[in-house]
Amino acid sequence: MGRFEFDSTHPYLSGNFKPMRFEGEAPFLEIEGELPADFTGVFYLNGSCPQFPPSSKRYHWFAGDGKVHAYYFRGDSVVDYATRWVRTENFELERRAQRSLFGNKKYGALTEIDPSVRHIRPQLANTNVVFHGGRLLALEDGIAPIELDPWSLETRGSHRFDGRLDSAMTAHVHTDPGTGEMIGFGRQLGGSGSPTMSHQVVNSEGVMTHNEPFESPYCALLHDFAISEDYVAYPLGPAILDPTRPAQGKPVLQWEPHRPAYLGILSRKGPTYSPRWLPMDPCFMWHTLNMYQEDRSLHIDLVRYKNLPGYDTGRDVRSADNPEEYAGRLVRWSVNLDAPTDEVTEHVLDDLISEFPRIDERSMGQKHRHAFFLCLDGKTGASRHWDAAAHLDLQTGRRTLYDPGAQSFVSEGVFAPRVGSTEEGDGYYMVPVYHEDQKRSEVVLLSATDFEAGPIARVKLPFRQNPTFHANFCAGLTQPEDAA
Ligand SMILES: [Fe+2]
Repeated sequence: MGRFEFDSTHPYLSGNFKPMRFEGEAPFLEIEGELPADFTGVFYLNGSCPQFPPSSKRYHWFAGDGKVHAYYFRGDSVVDYATRWVRTENFELERRAQRSLFGNKKYGALTEIDPSVRHIRPQLANTNVVFHGGRLLALEDGIAPIELDPWSLETRGSHRFDGRLDSAMTAHVHTDPGTGEMIGFGRQLGGSGSPTMSHQVVNSEGVMTHNEPFESPYCALLHDFAISEDYVAYPLGPAILDPTRPAQGKPVLQWEPHRPAYLGILSRKGPTYSPRWLPMDPCFMWHTLNMYQEDRSLHIDLVRYKNLPGYDTGRDVRSADNPEEYAGRLVRWSVNLDAPTDEVTEHVLDDLISEFPRIDERSMGQKHRHAFFLCLDGKTGASRHWDAAAHLDLQTGRRTLYDPGAQSFVSEGVFAPRVGSTEEGDGYYMVPVYHEDQKRSEVVLLSATDFEAGPIARVKLPFRQNPTFHANFCAGLTQPEDAA
């Protein structure tokens, strides 16, 4: 195989996962249909795209270099596109070496890492990209945010909030629309395998005001959490991280169903910051939808799995012997904060196999009515793509799907508000679509509450865009004159 050739038989290096090996801009994208009048803002997405063929056969989608995409909605139906890699330390080292050095980067064997870099912890910055406090931040669970220029996407460097951040920050920060505070958490504060976590708060000006350490029951893969007006909740499953295992030739991450799961509930109001951990039957979650308070109850909507999915090809809903074990479904957990017991009740909100749940972010932490998510509708066989997008009205129970076609797939979409709107759900769902038959991608705008009406507008790329993990739309964000 050629030096720069990617393994075309690898599920995460072929098809649309085959890395887009370029950076650049595509101005004045073709638009089919009509964008809403005065619609401006930036749709930022982050995903995994290894710059060189990985040096580990155990390469996984989660282990590629971070590559940010931006669709600049400039008004007057002008949309420009740009994409650029996040320049982490390991990205630059590999570029200088002109080859992959870091093996699988995540959860791989030490022997797969080049001896020259074994002392360096890789930084991927491939999971999310958020704009907060005037800064664009690329995020991944294991590192501090990396600041990017919002317009050129050039890397500015690690952002540690004037030295107040002494650990990693979750890729799934959540912003309270009432206070403008961005809430996050850190893990493994005491080093690899440490169960010490932290509660992080960054105010609307981008100043870190809280970085409060606390203990969790074990060190596990915790990827997302939820906030309400007064509380933070950590849905912790027994996907245990043990840094001593690789030396024994075992993966650092292991599912340990003999241990309970926990729901950690922490008061945002202090004065001390130590969660109450409610034990639950073992289960796993990647992503939450939202959390809200109603009287003295907390309701947390999330996608819940019975087992840990996604880390190898045999632990996936489409390839496992028992797919139900690895199927994620949108559920609601409810806790009575005054009850003397630790009971967490669950009911299923939707029967589709789903992931990447999102709300209208204006309802973050408040009671929400509308849920948006990706789902499988069974069309794709062994493909690793998501088939369709769904809108679920939690008030009426009505669910509608947007299926882009038999050869077309979706990545995480987001809600974008209609200009001038205030009511939850008044706006659009913006979703990246890949058309396998045309080897081309586009961003589709749907009415947020009527997916069946079909696209309002399609913003077309003249090439394909790799699948992305997470995305955010910054409504009304436009380039200042002096940055142009
Ligand atoms: Fe995520």
